[in-house]
Amino acid sequence: APVEVEYHDSIGSTNERARELADEGRTDLAVVADEQTAGRGRLDRGWSGPSGGIYCSLLIRPDAPPAHAPVYTLAAAVAVTTAAREGGVDASIKWPNDVLVGESGERGGKKLCGILTEMEGEADRVKWLIVGIGINANVDTDMLPEGATSLQAERGEPFDRRRFTQRLLETFDGLRSDPDSILDAWREHAATIGQRVRVDTPGGEIVGEAVDVEFPGALIVETDDGERRRVTAGDCEHLR
Ligand code: BTN
Repeated sequence: APVEVEYHDSIGSTNERARELADEGRTDLAVVADEQTAGRGRLDRGWSGPSGGIYCSLLIRPDAPPAHAPVYTLAAAVAVTTAAREGGVDASIKWPNDVLVGESGERGGKKLCGILTEMEGEADRVKWLIVGIGINANVDTDMLPEGATSLQAERGEPFDRRRFTQRLLETFDGLRSDPDSILDAWREHAATIGQRVRVDTPGGEIVGEAVDVEFPGALIVETDDGERRRVTAGDCEHLR
């Protein structure tokens, strides 16, 4: 079912607002804003929210165990990448869910989008899942942190943000109704597969070739001594 959208010109945090709606028992909706004044990033960092961005939080209640949650974050990265490519920006995904432009450039790709997923489980089922997506859309790069880029900067002209958001929501909706399709779509849009990578994991550093992704989002790395490692969390760097 297409999700219902609540628009705001300016808001503190769309994730925060989606959380209020979750607490009211709502589901299948998106909170979208043009500007955020108290955006939240991963690892307790903030996320700057200049006007002209797309700040979007999707609230869903998948009938799945909490361990399956990562796959919905992958789906969001696929949806953003799809909409960017349709708009003429050559975006791709770095595992697990960084959307980058110019991934093969000298210093690696530039970040176009950040995703923060929050979840509450009850027993062995997801109670609610909020996928928060921050896209640098029509934002000047000097408003952005070092190493980031925007849709507008890449294309040289502004994007129709409503249309971009619409395509993003449609793509996400199609993927989530068919979770088995998510990994295939992710592989198609990823830059990481086939790359030599270094992954900083909680259990130490792994270097090798990224050969695949497995449900619900693990990266499979073949190390130089021919070992096949399954990485579920960590920071990934593309080596050349
Ligand atoms: C990251 O640290 O890379 C993730 C950033 C996620 C930012 C988005 S913007 C929309 C949603 N609302 C928030 O407060 N954060 C997420």
